[in-house]
Amino acid sequence: MLKMLAHSAWLPFLLLMCVVSTLWGYPFRPPLDLDVTPRTTVLSNGLLGLRRFRGSTLNYSLLLLEEEAGLLYVGARGALYALQASDISSSSLQTIDWEASDDQKQQCLNKGKDNKTECYNHIRFLQRFNSTHLYTCGTHAFSPLCAYIDGREFKISSAFEEGREKCPYDPTKGYTGLLIDQQMYTASQYEFRSFPDIRRNSPNPTLRTEEAPTQWLQEADFVGSALVRKNVSSSVGDEDKIYFFFTEKSQELSPYFSHSRVARVARVCKRDRGGLLTLQKKWTSFLKARLVCSLPDYEFHFNVLRSVFFLEGSGPQDSVFYGIFGLEWKNVKASAICQYSVSDIQWAFDGPYMESREESSSKWTQYTGKVPEPRPGSCITDQLRAKGINSSTNLPDDVLHFVRRHPLMYRQILPQKQRPLLFRRNVDYTKIAVHRVTGLDDQIYHVLFIGTDEGWLQRAVKVDGQLHIIEELQLFEKPQPVESIIISEKQMSVYVGSPTSVVQLPLSTCSRYSSCFDCVMARDPFCAWDGLECVEITSHNRRYESNLTQDILNGNQGCDESTADDQVLHRSRSVMAGDDVLLQCELSSNLATPEWKLNGTELRGYRTDSGYRIGTDGLLVIEARPHQSGDYCCFALENGVHVPVVIYSLTVRQELPAPPPVEPIRPHLTTAIYWTIQTSPSDSPEDFHPNPMSPRFEFLSVRNMKAIYLSLITILGGLCFVLTVVLLYVGFCLQGRRGKYSLRATARTERKRGAHLELKTISSHCNGKPDAHDGLLQIVPGEATTSPNKELPPAPPLPPPPESEYVNGLSATLPSVLRKMNGNSYVLLRQTDGDTTSPLCYSFTEELNRILEKRKHTQLCSKPDESSV
Ligand SMILES: *[C@@H]1O[C@H](CO)[C@@H](O)[C@H](O)[C@H]1NC(C)=O
Ligand SMILES: *[C@@H]1O[C@H](CO)[C@@H](O)[C@H](O)[C@H]1NC(C)=O
Ligand SMILES: *[C@@H]1O[C@H](CO)[C@@H](O)[C@H](O)[C@H]1NC(C)=O
Ligand SMILES: *[C@@H]1O[C@H](CO)[C@@H](O)[C@H](O)[C@H]1NC(C)=O
Ligand SMILES: *[C@@H]1O[C@H](CO)[C@@H](O)[C@H](O)[C@H]1NC(C)=O
Ligand SMILES: *[C@@H]1O[C@H](CO)[C@@H](O)[C@H](O)[C@H]1NC(C)=O
Ligand SMILES: *[C@@H]1O[C@H](CO)[C@@H](O)[C@H](O)[C@H]1NC(C)=O
Repeated sequence: MLKMLAHSAWLPFLLLMCVVSTLWGYPFRPPLDLDVTPRTTVLSNGLLGLRRFRGSTLNYSLLLLEEEAGLLYVGARGALYALQASDISSSSLQTIDWEASDDQKQQCLNKGKDNKTECYNHIRFLQRFNSTHLYTCGTHAFSPLCAYIDGREFKISSAFEEGREKCPYDPTKGYTGLLIDQQMYTASQYEFRSFPDIRRNSPNPTLRTEEAPTQWLQEADFVGSALVRKNVSSSVGDEDKIYFFFTEKSQELSPYFSHSRVARVARVCKRDRGGLLTLQKKWTSFLKARLVCSLPDYEFHFNVLRSVFFLEGSGPQDSVFYGIFGLEWKNVKASAICQYSVSDIQWAFDGPYMESREESSSKWTQYTGKVPEPRPGSCITDQLRAKGINSSTNLPDDVLHFVRRHPLMYRQILPQKQRPLLFRRNVDYTKIAVHRVTGLDDQIYHVLFIGTDEGWLQRAVKVDGQLHIIEELQLFEKPQPVESIIISEKQMSVYVGSPTSVVQLPLSTCSRYSSCFDCVMARDPFCAWDGLECVEITSHNRRYESNLTQDILNGNQGCDESTADDQVLHRSRSVMAGDDVLLQCELSSNLATPEWKLNGTELRGYRTDSGYRIGTDGLLVIEARPHQSGDYCCFALENGVHVPVVIYSLTVRQELPAPPPVEPIRPHLTTAIYWTIQTSPSDSPEDFHPNPMSPRFEFLSVRNMKAIYLSLITILGGLCFVLTVVLLYVGFCLQGRRGKYSLRATARTERKRGAHLELKTISSHCNGKPDAHDGLLQIVPGEATTSPNKELPPAPPLPPPPESEYVNGLSATLPSVLRKMNGNSYVLLRQTDGDTTSPLCYSFTEELNRILEKRKHTQLCSKPDESSV
């Protein structure tokens, strides 16, 4: 009988848990160790120090930072802006409106172009030309134009120039360009029908790539370019080189990769003047090589280059390119980041060439014949000048002929450590920027800022050839690709351009870490713990203070473990035997795993008979028994350190409890639906609900009935109750799973009717971190008007509940939940609708679901028969 009574209260609890479990849980760490999980996740409403600029137009794709002037130039659709780099949201901005005329737009439409995207003037190029002027190009509704901009007045200062040699017609076509010594180097497939081309434009002789008999570029899609300066102190007398990065159709045969496209880097010399007869007005220094970014053990080849960033160092060894790679299949999301040093690229360009025996054949193999002198494709050095070869026009004809037929190098450029720094599934990275930061250990760390196609920015640090993602930040609520990232050391800011706005964020937000362990485990080279708080060490000269703690290498040294205890939350819970108890413990780090100790002994939660389940945000004690009372301590295990988070003193009572202490309702409720029940000391049915309520509320008295039954005062009442319960059980078993879905509906009706229950429904996010410590279901009885946020409305007389509520049987059971969760035991509910269907929600959720479903069916549906006998 008693058992059955207990079970009657179990049922709604289980139903609640079903709802809970559908949305609950964080993933445990994925098995592949290069697939790194960001340590913390910050949603857009949790960003600190964010500034945003949004003009009257769209497509803020192009950013140009001028540190000395403190200006950030933005190229958008039909407009250019000059913003204050210190605060891009400040009103002191200058604007150039430059949209294509209506005539021009009409012509664009007549060409069959899209009037929503293509027939506008998308700014594609903006760079400094000389000390007073900038140079810009726009697609101008499929008829590109360029112009000079007077930097001081921020006005277009010249007549428009023809732009078809310098700027693509199509706003989405891959394009890259540089202005070096007032010469423009660009690469794109400029027109729809034209071949892709790397060009140098006026004033010096125009140069291009060769198209016949050997086409140097095959359907190339350009993503970036960089100037790599010569070593001025070197005696070789080399010259500056320009590198172009792209993906193109593969020409070489390779036994182990069958892709039709490959990532490449090409190189030309800045002072190339073309050949005299052969290769007239063509590059004499063009060479290209394959960039490899593969997971060798997984036979996974990332062959599409999406973006590059050049981090210039003092020499070719520490000048590095970072590349973001993707897969050829458009519908598979995956990204890899590979790093190449300039010296590795030079090594490939100094190696053997490839050749193709038949014209226009795709069978390229290593060239093993004689290589003419001077070495084809090299720049003019002092050594050549000494031989009278002052410029590329002096090069011998056989060299130029060789160059013309052998643009491809045999050696492939492998990334540092022969593997990607990072590989991620389900993420498409779009852009990257990298910054050097000196840690407290005087090591130089590379901090990477990586943008995704959905508007997130990830900050990562390279340690030992691997990336640790410090955090991921949601910059835009509406998913949109990150289109540019620029770092300002002077402003200590990062700027991100996207289709709808430009965002400015501090390079780091150390204050987000509230404890020494949190600060150190973040492994953020910008941050250190000073004994009281997590501080930025780069902005002030704080790095020389002796009391700072930082550990980039391991992320676990330097914090005093005893101080961690000060941060621990203490809670007490008091429940009835047979209850399921959820002890919540949310970990701020996605990399931490939870561990629980009962009276100092570790609990293992995965054996089915243990009576415990450990999830990433809590411990579930299944059917608590008195001997399970004790101190439950939750630890976050990260980088080998156990950090205590919360301690619960759990009391499981066999008999009627003394009046439980009323725990204050926490005001910062964020996640999901919160109810609290506060049982009044006398705990009699009358006290608990002063108004005679709908039949549901009679079940509130189940426990009291039990007490009465036990004390043999109201045997008759007990029997009546038994009958009701049996009826309910039958009803539930017939209902099956429907109850899971109807619970929410009931809750809503409840609120609508203004009953004495207050429900808070606040949107939750699977990855979100509620700031409340108790993300709980709280039921506030009518007379306890301690509503956290607003006054309870006066309770109107309740109409009889609509028939439909009885059909699903839930309205009748809800109060039993309340009873069961008396005192300080809580149940967490998460909302089921909204954007919570993240693929990351699994594991614990599923397990819980399984357990609960099983219990519901095996115990609840079979036992009524037993007990009714
Ligand atoms: C410009 O922004 C719109 C709106 O987000 C987007 O649909 C379009 O693709 C963007 N165009 C370019 C060229 O980036
Ligand atoms: C584009 O053309 C369609 C149909 O021709 C028209 O309905 C729409 O208003 C145009 N959009 C713009 C932005 O001009
Ligand atoms: C910079 O270039 C512009 C455009 O050619 C020219 O008008 C201006 O005089 C130049 N400024 C200087 C300082 O040379
Ligand atoms: C530049 O060349 C000089 C002389 O060859 C050499 O000693 C020096 O290391 C080089 N510098 C760099 C950064 O490579
Ligand atoms: C190369 O330049 C040197 C000095 O500038 C000059 O004496 C020599 O004639 C030039 N050679 C050629 C082939 O132009
Ligand atoms: C750390 O040292 C600096 C100066 O040495 C001092 O200003 C600061 O208060 C110290 N911090 C703590 C928490 O002691
Ligand atoms: C834990 O310690 C408390 C108090 O010392 C004790 O009452 C309880 O029985 C212990 N629990 C277990 C499971 O050992």
